[in-house]
Parts: sequence; structure tokens; C-alpha cells
Amino acid sequence: MSLLRKIARKIFLKKRNFPRWIIERKIFPHIKSKKILIVGVAPYTSEYYRILKTNDITSIDINPYIKEFGAKKHIIGDISRMKLDEKFDFIFMIGILNYGLDYNEDAERALKNCHDLLNKEGVLILTWSPKIENHNKINPRRLKNFKLFQTVEWFGLGSGNNMGGAVFEFLMRKSFN
Ligand SMILES: C[S@@+](CC[C@H](N)C(=O)[O-])C[C@H]1O[C@@H](n2cnc3c(N)ncnc32)[C@H](O)[C@@H]1O
Repeated sequence: MSLLRKIARKIFLKKRNFPRWIIERKIFPHIKSKKILIVGVAPYTSEYYRILKTNDITSIDINPYIKEFGAKKHIIGDISRMKLDEKFDFIFMIGILNYGLDYNEDAERALKNCHDLLNKEGVLILTWSPKIENHNKINPRRLKNFKLFQTVEWFGLGSGNNMGGAVFEFLMRKSFN
């Protein structure tokens, strides 16, 4: 990408899509050489793979028709049901709750599954929309399996803060012995 395009993209993102600016500029740059699972892909997630290039990335999406937007290692599957033999340091569930994962039972299963898929002290980073929550949709803080995680601060960003219309949660896996 040319320098000019990079600068234009940076300005555009911050002004037009603040949550994605947070993801790409405030979260991703702190992650190096980790195993990452990205839940849900889209044309713009190729930018995610570029920024996270030092990491070992797997993506998963329930929709088989958009696998072309997946990472090199891509799985067609449902995050609330998919069982895998590997574990991850980070799972990103950005724009999934209320955008396909629409029922509390499925969201409970997804949180449990993410807990199972994370390494000890692995972190689940998710977003949800408080506006949609007012229409009786999913608020992850009201889910039973939210307790499987402990909220943590991410380089000055607190968990549960609304940043540009998306609430960001930084959730460290709790271990139960
Ligand atoms: C709004 S896009 C989010 C894309 C991306 N994660 C981001 O950072 O914006 C939602 C995507 O999540 C996928 N999705 C919805 N429910 C899912 C589930 N249960 N398991 C895996 N993918 C799911 C949809 O197919 C869709 O491609």
C-alpha cells in the first residue's frame, strides 16, 4: 500500500469507523508472535492479517461463501459449536454478537467454546453494540459464561467502554482447577 493511501486510510478510519481504528491502531500493534483466532471475516479483514503478520492467524466464519476473505488458515464453522485440537493466545470476536450470533443460548455456547479454545491466560477480545441491546438483544455481561473470564485493561483501554458505538471487552480466561 502506498504511503499516501496509508495516511488517507488512517484519517478515514478514525473519522468514519472509530471502532475499527481502535482495533487496527490500538489493539493489533501490541500483539506479536502469538496464535490468534479471528471470528468472522469480511473484505476488510485482509487488512487485519497484514497488520498482524508476525502472528500465526486462523480465521473462522459460518458463511461458506466468504472464505476468500479468510486468513491462509481458514475454517468454515460456527464459533459456538466448533471443536479444535489447538489453543490460541487471543480470540477476536469483533462484530459477531448481534451480527449473526443473535441468541443468548448460542452466545453462551460461544463464550464457553472460546474459554476452551484459549491458552491459560489467553484473552478474548469482543465487541457488542449497546444500541442493539436496548432492543432486547445480547449483552454479554448478562450471560452466565461471562464469569469464565476476568475483565482486564488493554494498554490504557478499559473493558466495558463504549468506543464509537461499540463496547469493547478485554476478557482474560480464568482457570478452574
Ligand atoms: C459484521 S461481520 C464481522 C467481521 C469481522 N469480525 C470484523 O472485525 O468486523 C460478521 C461475520 O460473522 C460471521 N458469523 C456470524 N455468526 C457466526 C458464528 N456463529 N460463527 C462464525 N462466524 C459467524 C458472519 O458470517 C459474518 O461474516
